[in-house]
Parts: sequence; C-alpha cells; structure tokens
Amino acid sequence: MKKTLVFLLIVLFFATTASASMKIKLAVVTKPGSAQNIVADKFKELIEARSQGEITVKVFHSASLGNETEILQQIQMGTVEMGIITAGPFDTFDPIVRVVNYPFLFKDNDQADLILDGPLGQEILKSLETSGFKGLHFSENGFRNLTNSKKAVKTPDDIKGLKIRVMASALHKTIWQTLGANPTPMPWPIYTELEQSVIDGQENPLWVMEVYKFYEIQKYMTMTRHVYSSHIDVAGLKWWNALSDDNRALIAGAIKDAAIFQRTDNRAKNAGRMALLGKKGMIIEQHPDVTAFRARVADLKNMDLYSDPRVNALLIKMIE
Ligand code: PAF
Repeated sequence: MKKTLVFLLIVLFFATTASASMKIKLAVVTKPGSAQNIVADKFKELIEARSQGEITVKVFHSASLGNETEILQQIQMGTVEMGIITAGPFDTFDPIVRVVNYPFLFKDNDQADLILDGPLGQEILKSLETSGFKGLHFSENGFRNLTNSKKAVKTPDDIKGLKIRVMASALHKTIWQTLGANPTPMPWPIYTELEQSVIDGQENPLWVMEVYKFYEIQKYMTMTRHVYSSHIDVAGLKWWNALSDDNRALIAGAIKDAAIFQRTDNRAKNAGRMALLGKKGMIIEQHPDVTAFRARVADLKNMDLYSDPRVNALLIKMIE
C-alpha cells in the first residue's frame, strides 16, 4: 500500500512537471547571423534563463517552415507559436502595416523608435488581433537600400525597366512600379535568382548584403533608405490567450529585451558593413537624389492601398 502511494506520488510529480514546461516553436526565414535570427536567439536565451528551463524555444530558421506568408498562416492555425516576421508580408493579412512601411516615413532610427514604441505602434500591434495575431514588439530590419547588377542608380530615371525583386506586399510592389521599375514579388531567399539574372536587383538593409554575400553578385548599391523596415515579433493570438498571466509577462518581457538588444546591435554594425561592402568591390552611391525619389512616391497616400478609413486615419497621424 505504502509502495503504491510512493509510486503514485512519483508519477504525479513527473506529470505535473511535464505539464508545467512549455516548448515554443519560433520560425524565421533567414539564416543564422541575420537580423531576425539575432532576435530569435536572444529571446531563446532570455526566456530559457528567466523561466529556469520551464519554457524552451526551438528556432526554425532558413525558411525550413516555409516563406513568411506561410509562417504567418501556421501561426494563425496554431501549429507554430511565434515568428519574427518582416512587416511587409503582414500586408496581406492586415493593411494597417502599410502605415509603418510608408516610403520615407521615418527620417532616422530615433524617430522610428519613438513612433513604433509609442501609442501609434501599439495601435498597429493591437490591430493584428483581428487577423489572429498577437503583435508583441517591433524589432528591426533597418532602412532599405537598392542594389542591382546592371548600372549605377542616382535618380528614379535610372531605375526604369530594372527587374527588382520585392516582398509579398502590395505596397512594396506599388512603390517600385511608381518608381518606374519592373517589380517582381518573390519569397526569400533570392541569391540564386540574382546570380542567374532572373532579377536585376533587390532592396534590403545593409546586413542583408553582408550576411547573404550579395556583394558577389550585385555591383551597384544606392543608399535610398526608402523604407524603414521593421520586423513584427508575433505570436498566435489563440495560443497567447491560453497562457497563464505569469508566462505572458515572461514572454513579453523577454521579446522586448531581445528586440531592443537586436536594434542596438544592428545599428552598431552598419558603419563596418558599409566599409566591408566597399572593400568587396560594390560601387556605392551615397547621395542619390532622394528629393526626386520622394516626389515620385508622394501620391501613394491617395491611392487605393490607403483607402481603408482606419489605415488612412493612422497614416495621416503618422505623417503629421
Ligand atoms: O526582403 C525580405 O524578404 C526581407 O527584408 C528579409 C531579407 C527576409 C529580412 O527581413
């Protein structure tokens, strides 16, 4: 009798411990060393330490669970719990992200932080709940710049006809159409397509040219800084709502700290990246005619993309 009781207590102990522990599947499309992976790896380190191993994270990287749209669908369905996803592809799920992806919206990092970490950023994260996402925080991709293999680009006229890969985002496609390019939506990664000249160019922040070695296949870079590109650190809303208050607080705290760590890290590395890309032989246009680029896309806010009154009202607030 005594032995049975001890046995039952042991079984109960292990059952309780097992149900208390939690495994999070977190997906990114990029490879180790990339901006998203730095957030993901830091989040894993922090949450595992702070929960004393009760919460563990498995990072699925390099698009092993599919492209960003597919990851977002899996998060909605609850088969993946979290992701660090570029704001661009959220466009298909909630047009509100077109507000933060608006061209030339932010002049610098400080302004981006002020807005994204403030009430307007919160409004965007909150809005994602309508499509089944819990937007937790913004981390950063950075200011996007144009690269191509064909010619030096200084003004929008130089872009005419260039085949530029864009993310799965109606806004990004329209920006490049408006600038006179031939935009081609394509999921990440795109090295082979650039190498085989299926596309002439692409646009992304500096870390991408370094980590993905685009200096090997893209001769020209133009510092257009046309969009400040953020990542949305996201969870499935249903999964999130089922967590205990303590776990929600732990996860929210760890993702916030990971995001802030990554933004600081990304910015600190940009000067070194620029020097490296120059050394590797890229021809870098540091001072394109930004006024002309801005003028070309100035009318975007009046297009159908922003006709949803909710999206339009928020954009106006941001622009002001
Ligand atoms: O161009 C993209 O798809 C994104 O900027 C990338 C490279 C996945 C990083 O967020």
